[in-house]
Amino acid sequence: MSRSPTRRRALAVVLGAVALAASACASHAPQNTLDAQGPEARYINRMFYPVGLIALVVLIFVSGMVLYCVVRFRARSDDDSPAQIHGSTPLEFTWTIIPLLLMFGVASLSIVGIVHLYRTPKGQPITFVPASAGSPPTVQGEVLDVHVIAHRWWFEYDYPGLGAMQDEFLSPGEATNTALVTANEIHIPAGRQIRLDITSNEPLQSPENKPGEIGPGVIHNFWVPELAGKIYAIPGHITHLNLVADLSKVSDGHPITYYGQCSEFCGISHANMRIRLVAETPHDFAMWVAQQQQTQQSPSAAVQYTNPQAYTGYTLFNGAGTCYTCHTVAGTNAVGRVGPNLTHLQSRQWFAGNILVLDNNNLRDWLRNPQAVKPGANMKIPKLTEDQITALIAYLDTLN
Ligand code: CUA
Repeated sequence: MSRSPTRRRALAVVLGAVALAASACASHAPQNTLDAQGPEARYINRMFYPVGLIALVVLIFVSGMVLYCVVRFRARSDDDSPAQIHGSTPLEFTWTIIPLLLMFGVASLSIVGIVHLYRTPKGQPITFVPASAGSPPTVQGEVLDVHVIAHRWWFEYDYPGLGAMQDEFLSPGEATNTALVTANEIHIPAGRQIRLDITSNEPLQSPENKPGEIGPGVIHNFWVPELAGKIYAIPGHITHLNLVADLSKVSDGHPITYYGQCSEFCGISHANMRIRLVAETPHDFAMWVAQQQQTQQSPSAAVQYTNPQAYTGYTLFNGAGTCYTCHTVAGTNAVGRVGPNLTHLQSRQWFAGNILVLDNNNLRDWLRNPQAVKPGANMKIPKLTEDQITALIAYLDTLN
């Protein structure tokens, strides 16, 4: 005996509700918008609760009225019909005015919220002061500007003024802007105002493009739920997002990683486009900047004898393997800007759009077949031998 469509539909609703309730019990839910970890996220929650409460009251009232009317005014016989009240002026006024007031209230909250959240932060821009005799590097100022460039499928982060590389945010030929460039993991000093300028590089580097072709590109979306709302990354356009990570959470010296992801469907590996935001004390952030600024030396000729595998990997990376055409390792001949910047790769904990922990086993899986790990990725390489992979990993291991 097969179930009737109605019963099947009811079953689907019940199962859906159970799944929803069960997901609310997750003990490790790092992308919980209700668990605000900074002032912007708390501000959004303060709007969410009153608006949610109003919506809940309306839901209960309307559902209750529907249920009441269904029971109270049900047809008791074929010629039973309720009293007609069409044209009742007081009633029509009531059910127009009340929703109007509610909508006006909700809209006012939203408009005030939008203006507040998208303001341009005031304060001195953060500058980096290198270590000098006896004193560690520091950062000074209140507002850190970070350029976020969405690629299919990973995020690039350029810190203008904090490094020596060209900032991808500017078109080629524009005034030189030296930036610290990194990928996948974004580091920020907690307690400082972070100003993100966000775009998508897609028109230039869409995976579907033939060489030299400029494609239509896609829109991505940057979202770290515990710190701020979400914002589009639009090709040819710059959007802005403000966020602050609570300083009190890292004051014991332990950095905190906040999780996020691209939240606009952008193709087959959309779910593999994750965000890890490392909030740390301003002191640790300054140490990180200082470390990232160090030039990554090309292996000297002596490395052929001390670490022959790494040397072979380096030659492969910058030669027959053609890795250098897509990747940058600052300080070497590798200056490609298609894939993630690999300078100081080993200072990161994750790679490949933050879906894999950075270790040699995962690097091996990735180099064997990137398309199997992140379908559609721009990294389309000929098959490497196991020896070549071992050599490349040995070289990547030296990028501290
Ligand atoms: Cu990028 Cu979804």
